[in-house]
Amino acid sequence: MATKLKEQYLKGFLSPEDFDAIAAQAVAAHQTLCKRTGRGNDFLGWLDLPAEYDRDEFCRIQMAAQKIRRDSDLLVVIGIGGSYLGARAVIELLGSPLYNSLAKDSPQIYFAGNNMSSSQLCQLLSLCEGKRVSVNVISKSGTTTEPAIAFRVFREYLEHRYGKQEAQKRIYCTTDRSRGTLHDLAVREGYERFVIPDDVGGRYSVLTPVGLLPIAVSGGDIQALMDGAATAREELSAPDFGGNSCIRYAAIRNLFYRKGRKAEMLVSYDPSFSMMAEWYKQLFGESEGKEHKGLLPTAATFSTDLHSLGQFIQEGSPILFETIVDLGEPAEEFILPKEEENFDGLNFLAGWKLSEVNRKAMEGTALAHRSGGVPSVVLELPQVNAFETGYFIYFMEMACAASGYLLGINPFDQPGVEAYKKNMFALLGKPGYEELRQQLEAQL
Ligand code: PA5
Repeated sequence: MATKLKEQYLKGFLSPEDFDAIAAQAVAAHQTLCKRTGRGNDFLGWLDLPAEYDRDEFCRIQMAAQKIRRDSDLLVVIGIGGSYLGARAVIELLGSPLYNSLAKDSPQIYFAGNNMSSSQLCQLLSLCEGKRVSVNVISKSGTTTEPAIAFRVFREYLEHRYGKQEAQKRIYCTTDRSRGTLHDLAVREGYERFVIPDDVGGRYSVLTPVGLLPIAVSGGDIQALMDGAATAREELSAPDFGGNSCIRYAAIRNLFYRKGRKAEMLVSYDPSFSMMAEWYKQLFGESEGKEHKGLLPTAATFSTDLHSLGQFIQEGSPILFETIVDLGEPAEEFILPKEEENFDGLNFLAGWKLSEVNRKAMEGTALAHRSGGVPSVVLELPQVNAFETGYFIYFMEMACAASGYLLGINPFDQPGVEAYKKNMFALLGKPGYEELRQQLEAQL
């Protein structure tokens, strides 16, 4: 298996009896998913997606990406939540968090419509000046406020700058197949359209055009990404507690939850993984946080965050366990130099690879946290490449869905996300929300 589960830092926290007690339930949860018999089973399109995706559309994505790479210096990707995080996560993991500064043969990629900061919107508009710009707007519903505002702005910007006809060739819409405001506008204006399948929820949609188009524009190998996910689909379908690390990971999470841990902290030792951790937070948070249940998904990038959160983890409230994502060999290596004077006393590290120093930090930290009462489970990716990333994405999606069934909730809805939207609409005076507006204003 490309994503390997390692349990050496669990010693003393989970016993063989714990695993025996949960094994059958964990396999049953996984089978509920694979046999499509659980709650929310009309949102399982992502399960077979890596094998059954639309090949014609996939070619269109590759062609659109090539066109954008040819005719644009900057791509604005508009979307929020599941229509944003996956693409950015993969671009930063396979490329770099510094992608926009390093991009040479590919357009810069900026993300908009994932907040309502007027400063950021103005700054992004000024970054567009003097550059050839295209826009990919992504929204399944087509009505989400944040991306709708940003699209209104960037559509007008492109039309003003290029004229309606050329702007039409620079706008790419990723939305529902047959309905919604964005779909209707795209049809009317003749924008190139890509489909978010009905049965794939936002947070499970990174391997649809939602993620694939921006990733392809960045130069990411989307074929290898899909191949990795397809391999994961084959390998992770077995109802085998001992041999299927995805089931075992879901079981470990649930065991810690039962033992009173409140949070899972997804830890990596490379900033290129930080956005992937944001993707994970949405995937697990929106899937599991229901009916007053669920682990809080949190994340940290070490060793950076050891200098902020490290004290709490080591000696604070024992509320969390860690899931360490071990990214294996780095894409580029740096060998530490010798310094004649040894003015900093660091010559004992001369000749070491920086990644080896990082690995010792990881091992030392996991052992320290274990002695401080904080267990860690390790998910190991042998290498960071598109194939392993596709595998990891599918692994986490499956682990999340199985975890949700093990917890006894529906992992595919998100009723809680609506509450803030209703209040915001009411306070903004949207027609139809007058009564709620009065109630809310009385509380302010
Ligand atoms: O996972 C989800 O369903 C959400 O995070 C959505 O992706 C997010 O709210 C954006 O929705 P839409 O794509 O409809 O604009």
